[in-house]
Amino acid sequence: MNLFHTWVSGLVIAANLLLQYYFIHKYSVWITRPALAMITDAEKKGLITPGKTVLIEPTSGNMGISMAFMAAMKGYKMVLTMPSYTSLERRVTMRAFGADLILTDPTKGMGGTVKKAYDLLESDTGCFHAPTILKPCQYTDTNGKVDIFIMGIGSGGTVSGVGQYLKSQNPNVKIYGLEPAESNILNGGKPGPHHITGNGVGFKPDILDMDVMEEVLMVSSEDAVNMARQLALKEGLMVGISSGANTVAALNLARRPENKGKLIVTIHPSFGERYLSSVLFQELRKEAENMQPVAVD
Ligand SMILES: Cc1ncc(COP(=O)(O)O)c(C=O)c1O
Repeated sequence: MNLFHTWVSGLVIAANLLLQYYFIHKYSVWITRPALAMITDAEKKGLITPGKTVLIEPTSGNMGISMAFMAAMKGYKMVLTMPSYTSLERRVTMRAFGADLILTDPTKGMGGTVKKAYDLLESDTGCFHAPTILKPCQYTDTNGKVDIFIMGIGSGGTVSGVGQYLKSQNPNVKIYGLEPAESNILNGGKPGPHHITGNGVGFKPDILDMDVMEEVLMVSSEDAVNMARQLALKEGLMVGISSGANTVAALNLARRPENKGKLIVTIHPSFGERYLSSVLFQELRKEAENMQPVAVD
């Protein structure tokens, strides 16, 4: 979807910003396709069998939801591990698709979540974990005209897969990653707590291709949350916190003089309703819970 709304384009002085939405995809997330690809690939290789194999996936939420949905459709039992700081909506959605969910110690971050998944894998030979794959897709949507692609880094699958593909089509395309300013390990900092769910796992994921990126930008949780709220208020786009972060970074790139006239592409990975119990809508949720009905004559 190509959007040049008044508010966002008011901030973008000279560059064009393309925000790619995934709300009309099955389960409102862009990684349903990789989830299907991972399961289909493992089936073709004879590694997994519906009704027999237990699929195991460590997740910060969206990949887990996509895997749970695919597992339900294909008849696999699914076990997900996820840090306990993630939203209630994620937990309920995973359970609605029949997945078993194990919450891990929030102080251990995604590292602890991955470790728990591997402990489970080692303890049971009927279990399977598909390595996360790269996720190319953004090229055809812009008729090959994309100049810059920017994406927050979780597993790193999206920025690496899209980046490698775009550069194979046009070596002049610039690729930027993004990490939370409070957990900026890819810029030499330390892991730390942050609110940009889905980004900043606290270590460098194996599949992240550092060479494909010009730079890993940093966005604070506060700026990401504020942007996500503004997108709902001013653009009618109810999106998650990492969508806010991607938009902040895309606008910062758009302000750079060398990017005048460039087409900048980013993704809004998930829908805001998955964040009603998170810091993003915490105040509004409390307000809604405490509302009293007015008398009607
Ligand atoms: C909401 C959200 N934003 C961003 C990302 C980062 O994507 P990737 O894991 O491909 O780096 C994820 C990953 O699951 C996510 O759930």
